[in-house]
Amino acid sequence: MELIETVVRAKEVVAQWREEGLTIGLVPTMGALHEGHESLMETARAQCDRVVVSVFVNPLQFGPNEDYDAYPRDIARDASICESHGVDAIFHPSVEEMYGPLFHTFVVEEVLTDTLCGASRPVHFRGVCTVVTKLFNIVQPHKAFFGQKDAQQLAIIKRMVADLNMNVSIVGCPIVREADGLAKSSRNSYLSPEERQAALVLSQAVAQGQEAVRAGERDAARLRQAMVACIEAEPLASIDYVEVVDGQTMQPVDTLGSSVLVAMAVFIGSTRLIDNFLWEESEEA
Ligand code: PAJ
Repeated sequence: MELIETVVRAKEVVAQWREEGLTIGLVPTMGALHEGHESLMETARAQCDRVVVSVFVNPLQFGPNEDYDAYPRDIARDASICESHGVDAIFHPSVEEMYGPLFHTFVVEEVLTDTLCGASRPVHFRGVCTVVTKLFNIVQPHKAFFGQKDAQQLAIIKRMVADLNMNVSIVGCPIVREADGLAKSSRNSYLSPEERQAALVLSQAVAQGQEAVRAGERDAARLRQAMVACIEAEPLASIDYVEVVDGQTMQPVDTLGSSVLVAMAVFIGSTRLIDNFLWEESEEA
């Protein structure tokens, strides 16, 4: 496995692979790797001849009062995790390598970014779309792998790839959870033991919402209210949003239609966590 730090070297390596007719899979990450990331690597490994994991804490997607400086960084640990999953290369550029002093070009999706996390993190998805476009241009993957955990991010990346005719297939992968239900996240490491316990309220609200929909609930306001009540019962939790939106457009719906995303962001103390479930009408028994 090669640890690549420059754009020039990354392009050299992937050009060679492409010349050999090999398919390339890219797993974009910000490091602090956990089983959620590992499941993406495994899926990429199964579907592609060569797998590249990018590890880059992207300053462009953090707001001024967010956790850019505090975000956990440990490339040696990340590298050994990648190695154990048969990853062929890690792309780990510096901020200067990605964003030179003259950097002024951004990629902005203008509709799906208005709601959910986009509403409370105004510059976030502009940063995500810009860095992911750069990663696609550098690594030139045939396929790129993203988690359903960040459902809005996945929908926006799919939109961007379709709108800009990018030559890459986007593969969505299911949410990986801890044994007790908490969705795996690099930010879980910020939680005190008491907060870790309180954080279970997110997956509990998800489970409760899924159960209500399975039992026939189709009214978005009632579904939302039941989940809000579940979260508000936890004193350490404070809701950023709980929304029921269309699975493609990310716009709020009144009644559950053919594809619905039920998504939430909740502060546990000062740590902002997200969770969601996607419901497709075909799932109806
Ligand atoms: P990061 O938060 O490191 O996540 C990298 C990828 O892992 C994303 O596609 C995310 O959805 C996926 N992931 C995280 N936790 C997961 C879980 N519990 N189950 C399944 N997949 C999970 O998302 C980003 O980084 C950045 O925004 C990035 C796309 C790399 C752009 O900077």
